[in-house]
This record gives sequence, structure tokens and C-alpha cells, in this order.
Amino acid sequence: MEKFIKKGQIIVGLDFDNSKSAFEITKLLNPDNFKVKVGSQLFTACGPKILEDLKKQGFDIFLDLKYHDTPNTVEKAVLEACKKEVWMLNIHLSGGQKMIESAVKAKNSVSSEILLIGVTVLTSLDQKDLSDVGVSKNLEDQIFSLFSLGKKGGIDGIVCSPNDLTFFKKGEMNSFLTVCPGIRIKAESGGQKRTSTIHDAIHLGADYLVVAREITSSPDPLKVINEIDSYFI
Ligand code: C5P
Repeated sequence: MEKFIKKGQIIVGLDFDNSKSAFEITKLLNPDNFKVKVGSQLFTACGPKILEDLKKQGFDIFLDLKYHDTPNTVEKAVLEACKKEVWMLNIHLSGGQKMIESAVKAKNSVSSEILLIGVTVLTSLDQKDLSDVGVSKNLEDQIFSLFSLGKKGGIDGIVCSPNDLTFFKKGEMNSFLTVCPGIRIKAESGGQKRTSTIHDAIHLGADYLVVAREITSSPDPLKVINEIDSYFI
């Protein structure tokens, strides 16, 4: 059995509408091996108490609220999130340079060790979606522009599709963190473009992988978790 994932590289997306369902999954996870992600659904349903509860269970938390607002509001929101001692949080880079700099400033005022990650173009959007909202650049150029803006502004890494890893892991960008959603345990039939297996994403250089539905929608989440566990070095 090939062992290829370092402990802590897998972030389990707790995409639920209540804490009970989330805790049914976290009780199956060893916090030394897995981190967890709280997104807008769980956070909106449960409020910040969910962060305290997960911290008490020993987990590092990725707060995935993808802030995008005025620089002043994002600065204050990031400050509050960092005070809750999250491990990682994110912003939309399309909020612009001032917003990015305000987020970085707020995060560093609490702890430079907290990881601030930028979303370039959501993987759910295609060229037509971009053009519908008035972006005439091609998708790849738009991703690169936003990435450059984020890097200049001092963020720690980006969310990207596993398909973009070869680009983001080359040369001087190698130290920039990559967080990849769209991860499947087995390759999807027809080789769907925007998903990747854990194995392929890690071998392409991803630093962190977000796995949600493969665990949360499985009829046997423990079986999936045990399979991932068996890949840890
Ligand atoms: O594993 P699954 O496909 O269910 O993962 C979906 C998770 O990844 C959701 O929590 C979603 O918000 C997150 N995601 C993201 N950025 C994207 C695509 C998905 O954070 N570009």
C-alpha cells in the first residue's frame, strides 16, 4: 500500500446544516491526522459556537466564509475570525488590492501564523459565467491576474482546482500554499475535468486537499476515513 499523504494535509469539509451531523463525522476523525472546514452553511446554522466546539475537540479549523466586502468591513471580519483562533481562513481576491491588504493587515495583527488563502475564480464558474458578470478576460488570465494581486498583497496561498496545480507549483510559486477542493477517492468515470483523486492531487504538489461529499454523503463514512487513513505516511 503506497503511503503518500502527510498527516494534516486532508481537510474534511463539514457541509451540514446542524452541529449534530458535523460531530457524527468529527468523532470518527483523529485531529492529529485531519483538519476540518466550516463553511457558510454550518456557520450560518450554528454560529461561532461551532468553532469553539471543534477547537475543544482538538481540530485545526479552516473557516471558509470567503469574505468579499469593503476593505474596512473585511478587515474587521478577518480580525474577529482570527480572534477565534482559526487555523486558516479565506477571502475572494476579486475584492481588490485594498481589500486584500486590509485582510492581511488584520490577520497579521493577531498572528502571522494564521493562513490567509485567496479564492481566484470559483471552480464552479466557466467562461460564459465570467462574461455574464462583465469579465472579458479568458478564464486562465483572470485566475492569474487575481493570483498576482493576492501574492502582491501578502496572502499565504490560494484555493485552486487540481488541474491548475502544475501551473501554481512551478518555480518561484512553489512556496505558495495550494488548497484544492473537488477531490474524489476514485477517478470519476469520463475523467471529469474539475475533479481529481487524492493520489493525483498530492502527486501534483497540492499542500492541502478539501474532501467533503466523499465523506459527508457516504453511506459508510468510517470506511472512507479508514481508506484515507491508510494513505498517511
Ligand atoms: O468534496 P466536495 O466536492 O463536496 O467539496 C465541496 C467543498 O469544497 C464545499 O465545502 C465547497 O464550498 C468547497 N469549495 C471551495 N472552493 C471551490 C469549490 C468548492 O471552497 N472552488
